[in-house]
Amino acid sequence: MSLLEFTESEVTKFQQIDDEHKAIVEFANKLYRKYSKQKYDEFNELLKVFISSGTKHFHTEEKYMLNNSYPNFYSHKIEHDRFTRKLIEYQEMLMDDPAVNGNVILNFIKDWFINHVAGKDKMLGEYLFKLTEENKIIGV
Ligand SMILES: [Fe+2]
Ligand SMILES: [Fe+2]
Repeated sequence: MSLLEFTESEVTKFQQIDDEHKAIVEFANKLYRKYSKQKYDEFNELLKVFISSGTKHFHTEEKYMLNNSYPNFYSHKIEHDRFTRKLIEYQEMLMDDPAVNGNVILNFIKDWFINHVAGKDKMLGEYLFKLTEENKIIGV
């Protein structure tokens, strides 16, 4: 029973980012299991932790971008900020109707992961991977 899978399409080639994405996948699947068992209070608590650890992950990517003069910083950061804002909005209304809103949240996380990771993050990962190969990477 899982919501997300880490597949070839999500590999960015940059190890630290890939590892963090794998952890996000695990976390999202844990959320999915709570939802499936209708443990909505636990889902709600876990979602708060998910949001804060997601924010931490975004900061890591953003620091990599800034330290390494990444050209598409702003368009990438906009997607991070939108995701966080939207998820907080959903979280605030979750307990009004957890069966419906929990499902909305899970679908939102799934779509976002597939689109953002396979799009923006992959581009970033390739850029950082190249710098690593050239020994020019500035860590965070
Ligand atoms: Fe990202
Ligand atoms: Fe990411």
